[in-house]
Amino acid sequence: MTSSPSARHDLRGVRRAYDTVAADYAAHLPDTRCEASLDLAMVDAFATVVTAGAGGPVLDAGCGAGRMSRYLADRGCAVAGVDLSPGMVAMAVRDHPDLVFTVGSLAELPFPDGRFAGVMLWYSIIHTPPAGQPRIFAEAARVLRPGGHLLVGWQAGHGTWDVAPAYRRFGHEIALTRHRYTADDVCARVDAAGLREVCRLVRRPTGGERDDQAFLLAVAG
Ligand SMILES: C[S@@+](CC[C@H](N)C(=O)[O-])C[C@H]1O[C@@H](n2cnc3c(N)ncnc32)[C@H](O)[C@@H]1O
Repeated sequence: MTSSPSARHDLRGVRRAYDTVAADYAAHLPDTRCEASLDLAMVDAFATVVTAGAGGPVLDAGCGAGRMSRYLADRGCAVAGVDLSPGMVAMAVRDHPDLVFTVGSLAELPFPDGRFAGVMLWYSIIHTPPAGQPRIFAEAARVLRPGGHLLVGWQAGHGTWDVAPAYRRFGHEIALTRHRYTADDVCARVDAAGLREVCRLVRRPTGGERDDQAFLLAVAG
């Protein structure tokens, strides 16, 4: 598959933004302390199904600085991480040297068909506008083996949010937008990619969150 020029342009902006903030992201979000117990219950369920039976490798797609890769590895998953931002991947390699991380795009995953027992998209679909979403789920479905599971986490709702002010307090001037999607939006895209919904969870915001948080577990084949 090849990307459209506009999709490539969007990716350059996201990469530049995360390269800029990578060190602060890794320092301020080193683990799962920001996740609610309900969020982690979905991750735990995902880790359980992907390590059951024959198991197999798991892809943390949009792994950032690797904190969720660590969480999955600590639960018995053989994790590989991939992220668009070389700066974020450098932080992941530094902080989790026992795990494998690669630079790559969700729209063109650098892995063969059927490689993974699980794919996790943890807050990594959020910077891709609606037009680019089908491609992300098609790629996740492509690299999943039959019976493999997909876990998605994202901010639920409608419209966009300017992320730049959140990083201004760390002294960074970036241009970065996140897109909200409803659970029905994401479930429809997952279904269109040939995956089947197993479970969805939408919870109200807690702490400093602005939006509902949504999680979807789906299965291939
Ligand atoms: C909000 S961070 C989440 C990182 C990590 N999943 C976590 O929970 O800490 C979003 C990450 O997704 C990555 N990302 C966004 N769009 C991407 C794309 N199209 N391909 C690969 N990575 C992408 C960004 O570079 C960034 O590291």
